[in-house]
Amino acid sequence: MKVSVFGTGYVGLVQGTVLADVGHDVICIDIDEAKVAGLKAGEIPIHEPGLAPLVLENQAAGRLRFTTNAAEGVAHGELIFLAVGTPPDEDGSADLKHVLAVARTIARYMDGPRTLVNKSTVPVGTADRVAAAVREVLQERGVDYPFDVVSNPEFLKEGAAVADCKRPDRIVIGTDSPAAEARLRELYAPFNRNHDKIVVMDIRSAELTKYAANAMLATKISFMNEIANLAERLGADVEAVRRGIGSDPRIGYHFIYPGLGYGGSCFPKDVKALIHTARSTDFSPELLLAVERRNEAQRRVLFDRINAFYGGELKGKVVALWGLAFKPNTDDMREAPSRSLMEALWAAGARVQAHDPVAMQEASRVYGERSDLVLAATPTAALEGADCLAIVTEWQTFRVPDFAQMAHLLKDRMVFDGRNLYDPALLARHGLGYSSIGRAAQD
Ligand code: UGA
Repeated sequence: MKVSVFGTGYVGLVQGTVLADVGHDVICIDIDEAKVAGLKAGEIPIHEPGLAPLVLENQAAGRLRFTTNAAEGVAHGELIFLAVGTPPDEDGSADLKHVLAVARTIARYMDGPRTLVNKSTVPVGTADRVAAAVREVLQERGVDYPFDVVSNPEFLKEGAAVADCKRPDRIVIGTDSPAAEARLRELYAPFNRNHDKIVVMDIRSAELTKYAANAMLATKISFMNEIANLAERLGADVEAVRRGIGSDPRIGYHFIYPGLGYGGSCFPKDVKALIHTARSTDFSPELLLAVERRNEAQRRVLFDRINAFYGGELKGKVVALWGLAFKPNTDDMREAPSRSLMEALWAAGARVQAHDPVAMQEASRVYGERSDLVLAATPTAALEGADCLAIVTEWQTFRVPDFAQMAHLLKDRMVFDGRNLYDPALLARHGLGYSSIGRAAQD
């Protein structure tokens, strides 16, 4: 099928590439000229396992093209995806300016029937607004082409985006048009072979499904962080509790890892947007408000501990920091716990020596040159001359460090672990103090 994708961010780029890979004829459109020029030259703007070879392969095969030319994009696709960002507005609501601008652009160049497929995470009611925007422009042009707007939310995770997109666990299609449903079933047939993963529903329910999924996962995380706080105060070990409850299949092992609160480009933004939506209906979403409050508090935990350990005297201290990305296997630092920690440490007069396997370039882009940030080439280099270590991201390479060397290098022999990577007894044997999440501290 001929497919066009507006937006080459995580969702658009991965979706377009994976659709091309099963044989569809795909054009991706973006207004960012430098990005499109880079993509044409085979430069992939994000770190995502497996993505680069797939883009290159499908580009070479002529099934995947990139352009800034919206008219060409609209002329090409019988199906047109909207996969542009919905950043939070000042009041927490999702800002739809990019989505609506793309809708108007599509309407400006339409020359026949089209199916618009919305992949961006958008509040309930957005499909209606997209349809209204398209109708308005068509009317201005004095033309009347039939079109459908479908809600088809994306559930991929960063760091596993290609795998998630190739093997979705469900494909939600929100539409009231049997013809549009049939077109999307045809599009997704290659991904729907073993059993039927397609769930068809009305448009508003599909839009809400996306927020409900992310809010449910965020709720699990905040719940577990709450239990971790309790465990510390009660002398229990949250890691044992986690295994104990996860074994119940109704609860499950996923998304019950306590840590530094949820970050990234989705959960914080989507929980806020859902709260905003709820309030706009005069409903107070008590549970979501608590989920968000717990998350805000959790993000401060590591700083508070380091600050308490030094009795509030952080000036001149050097903190080694392992992990800048908001989670492993990505270089994304949006809403990363590393940022709130570093910024709090700097405000208190401490310096940071950070290492991350892939996000160092992103860190220099975000913070530029500054005297209180050293980007260390290796995890060990980050420890050299540091007073203590803070662990923020659970990269595999941090899981089995040389503890003897760590004890030798860290002046205060203290590890603050926001991801519970180690067995506390092991650190104690090496003479290292250890403060982790939801387990009794030792120093
Ligand atoms: C999330 C969802 O998992 C995807 O299904 C969804 O499509 C995506 O948002 C989106 O809306 O675009 P992502 O933000 O890439 O994906 O990352 P996750 O793996 O979900 O992690 C989110 C945050 O939760 C991270 O900060 C992570 O450290 C934290 N987390 C996750 C925990 O603290 N504990 C856990 O047990 C799991």
